[in-house]
Amino acid sequence: MDSREFAKSIEKQVSDFCNGLDAKLPAYSFIPLTTDEMRIKVMQSRLFNEIRAGEIFGGWLKSTTELDVKKILAEATHEEYEHAQFLEEALRGKGATPYDYNPLPAQMAMFNAFEGLTETVERIAAFPMAGEGVADYLIAKSLKAGTVPSWVTAPYQKIHQDEAEHGNYPFEILVKYATTAEKQERASRAVAMSLILRRAYFENLDRWVYEGNPY
Ligand SMILES: [Fe+2]
Ligand SMILES: [Fe+2]
Repeated sequence: MDSREFAKSIEKQVSDFCNGLDAKLPAYSFIPLTTDEMRIKVMQSRLFNEIRAGEIFGGWLKSTTELDVKKILAEATHEEYEHAQFLEEALRGKGATPYDYNPLPAQMAMFNAFEGLTETVERIAAFPMAGEGVADYLIAKSLKAGTVPSWVTAPYQKIHQDEAEHGNYPFEILVKYATTAEKQERASRAVAMSLILRRAYFENLDRWVYEGNPY
């Protein structure tokens, strides 16, 4: 398949997944939450994600041979720690201890799975494209909902702006590098893996936030 057509098909797979979340939005989106206690838990979980995202992007640097991708990963690494800073400040403003949090089992599995990917196209398709794509879809929704308190939307406004400034770099990386049937197959499987583990993380987070059970 032509690599641009391939990138479009992956984009469609991610947007279908996003649309499927609309019927029952996860706690992750903040929209269904009714108390600050719940919102603090979700924000702590999402703060862990920023830290872990930075670790993963940074960890991929040495094994990424494409210099243009390496530079993007280096910038993304730095940016994730800026996002962490925004969330830490918001949590402290609410009297919460930002890192008083243990990662949920499905959340650990999702990031460990990203970390184990070895090829540029599967890494970029699975994490910046599918993973961050879903995250940013729900951020945009939470900003538009009008019901999420401003102490939550303020840091996400800045995070959302960062994501918007990148343009669609994962798409362009796939167009440039997902040029063989073998690479496309690996990238597709990595996206499917990412979305399955994302769903498991959202369910795990729901269970913890609503029922108090981390597993
Ligand atoms: Fe990011
Ligand atoms: Fe981030």
